[in-house]
Amino acid sequence: MRKELTVHDHNGAPCYKITLNETFDRLADDILCAAGDCKTRKLCIVSDSNVAKIYLNKIRAILEPQFSGFISFVFEAGEQSKNMDTVQKLYEQLIINRFDRHDLLVALGGGVVGDLTGFGAATYLRGIDFIQIPTSLLAQVDSSIGGKTGVDFWQYKNMVGAFYQPKLVYMSMEVFGSLPDRQFAGGMAEEIKHGLIRDQAYYTWMKENRALLLQKSPGTLIGLLETGCNIKRIVVENDPTEKGERALLNFGHTIGHAIEKLSDFTLFHGECVALGMVAAAFLSVKKGHLTKEQLSDIEHTLAAYDLPVRIKGYDARQILETTKSDKKMVGGRIKFTLLKRIGEAYSDLTLTDDDLLAAIRYVLGG
Ligand SMILES: NC(=O)c1ccc[n+]([C@@H]2O[C@H](COP(=O)([O-])OP(=O)(O)OC[C@H]3O[C@@H](n4cnc5c(N)ncnc54)[C@H](O)[C@@H]3O)[C@@H](O)[C@H]2O)c1
Ligand SMILES: [Zn+2]
Repeated sequence: MRKELTVHDHNGAPCYKITLNETFDRLADDILCAAGDCKTRKLCIVSDSNVAKIYLNKIRAILEPQFSGFISFVFEAGEQSKNMDTVQKLYEQLIINRFDRHDLLVALGGGVVGDLTGFGAATYLRGIDFIQIPTSLLAQVDSSIGGKTGVDFWQYKNMVGAFYQPKLVYMSMEVFGSLPDRQFAGGMAEEIKHGLIRDQAYYTWMKENRALLLQKSPGTLIGLLETGCNIKRIVVENDPTEKGERALLNFGHTIGHAIEKLSDFTLFHGECVALGMVAAAFLSVKKGHLTKEQLSDIEHTLAAYDLPVRIKGYDARQILETTKSDKKMVGGRIKFTLLKRIGEAYSDLTLTDDDLLAAIRYVLGG
């Protein structure tokens, strides 16, 4: 089984393909198709220490014969590597190995590798081609699509970056053989988010097919990702540089990011998004859009995928202050994504501090 999606640019012209594959067998063909003959080009595979251990040799064996030269650049896994120091080391390797504008980068890893490699590709010699091979569910359904690249700077997440599109996004279901369960759950938070903001049937499908999905058969996962990636594709095509609709993808992220920061990143991104979605769904009930039954339905669905829906040991006011120090403020009010119904989101600018505190306290279990 194999599926393909095409992402279009702002003029509606095809820009790049996302291919969903059971294995890596089609990788070389897809790259040749997307990037043309590579016999005179050099290749640099960028990966992190965890992913490289498992997949680098395999990908190298597939791709090296297609290129005139090959290097790899592996950095220590984790968000703490997503910074300018690592980008600088990447530039150094590219310069030492005489990479020119004609050569190619491949991002082999989760969202950290994808964001950093994309940024390196966007800026090295004012832009060289790159390909995404996302290996975490989160990177597949979210970060590899849409062209947002970048790194953290000081304590600020994604502070430096560029919109820069890959030539191809190649997904292989083989990666789920090694992806830790907790990382898989984190990716499911973004999948469930996609259903909640845009596709009720998709949400219901995930709700009702938990047991099937957790068997992680390639066919089921390709089906999951095809719909999840397609939702992200449509949203980013409609709003490539986040002037409007793309903000809806922030559902669950406003309070979620604050919790993520306060947890000092001990909680995973997807786990914090799950908590943030509970808060946002609570507020959607308060606004009269959802029923209490729908709120508890959302909580049950998240919990069924081992995502947290309550958290202890945090201070509500501190979460509020951290939320407000986030950048999504308009005229002193937080821009908040709420649900109009399950399957449809909107941006709300009317929430007061008391509303937010009530939602945060709900998630804190009080
Ligand atoms: N660009 C965007 O639009 C966008 C969107 C969402 C998130 N992000 C970014 O993505 C990052 C989070 O992505 P992530 O959750 O993939 O984090 P990650 O890249 O740190 O990967 C999570 C962990 O899983 C490991 N891993 C990945 N694939 C594996 C596999 N197949 N087998 C075994 N281990 C594997 C990694 O080594 C890492 O330890 C954040 O930096 C976030 O800012 C970007
Ligand atoms: Zn997210």
